[in-house]
Amino acid sequence: MNQVIDLLQAHRSIRKFTETPVQQELLNTCIAAGQSAATSSFIQACTVIQVNDSNNRNALSEWAGNQQYVKAAPVFLVFCADMNRHKLSCEMHQAEMLSGFTEQFITATVDCALFAQNVAIAAESEGLGVVYIGGIRNKIDLVSQALELPDLTYPVFGMCIGYPDQDPEVKPRLPLEVVLKQDKYSDKNDADIIAEYDKTIKAYYQSRTGGQKDMTWSEQISGMLQKEARPHMLSFLKSRGFLHK
Ligand SMILES: Cc1cc2nc3c(=O)[nH]c(=O)nc-3n(C[C@H](O)[C@H](O)[C@H](O)COP(=O)(O)O)c2cc1C
Repeated sequence: MNQVIDLLQAHRSIRKFTETPVQQELLNTCIAAGQSAATSSFIQACTVIQVNDSNNRNALSEWAGNQQYVKAAPVFLVFCADMNRHKLSCEMHQAEMLSGFTEQFITATVDCALFAQNVAIAAESEGLGVVYIGGIRNKIDLVSQALELPDLTYPVFGMCIGYPDQDPEVKPRLPLEVVLKQDKYSDKNDADIIAEYDKTIKAYYQSRTGGQKDMTWSEQISGMLQKEARPHMLSFLKSRGFLHK
């Protein structure tokens, strides 16, 4: 294809890093690449917190479910959806900001995801490895306190960055026909295609774990979706000024 597409298709999360530090200048370049992502109505609603403080790193690692790489990675970033600076901008014009709209929550969250994925690709293009950390939302209130996040902001996810000290296989994705539909949605053949894909993922897990993990994709998903998904999120987001309308 071309080098960009090759890079995108070579992505795999990295959870073990060498001790080689990531130069701040390189990190800043990756963050600037994040800023270049498209942003809804030019809203620029993402703030990144680089967590250097070791106490906070340890706490974040524990709150994320004892994910060791959160404290071990050379760099840990928290991507925050941020409408606070928009409130400040309204105040600069003596305007009252109408906040709490679900639409604003969606645009800020999407902005954050696009920003972060640009950072991830920029980092990977420089030979770095990354893993996103949604686990920080386990204790989103404590994370927000520790990072002194104001109202109208919330931590969407974290990201570990560093030079890879492992070389995991690329994880095969769903076949294209499940994720790309022509003109109308149809899931007519999806169950059959997923059943076939299940075999691929089972073989992938077996190879990656030396036979220890024996699971298909649909088994993994059905197991996950029988459990509640961070039910504290709605009340937390409301307490921060999101999702009222
Ligand atoms: C928003 C988001 C949150 C994630 N949170 C975690 C996490 O807390 N811990 C972790 O080890 N991986 C996390 N991941 C990584 C996914 O597990 C991983 O991307 C997925 O299994 C596909 O594997 P790959 O990235 O190696 O292709 C997260 C990924 C995303 C996009």
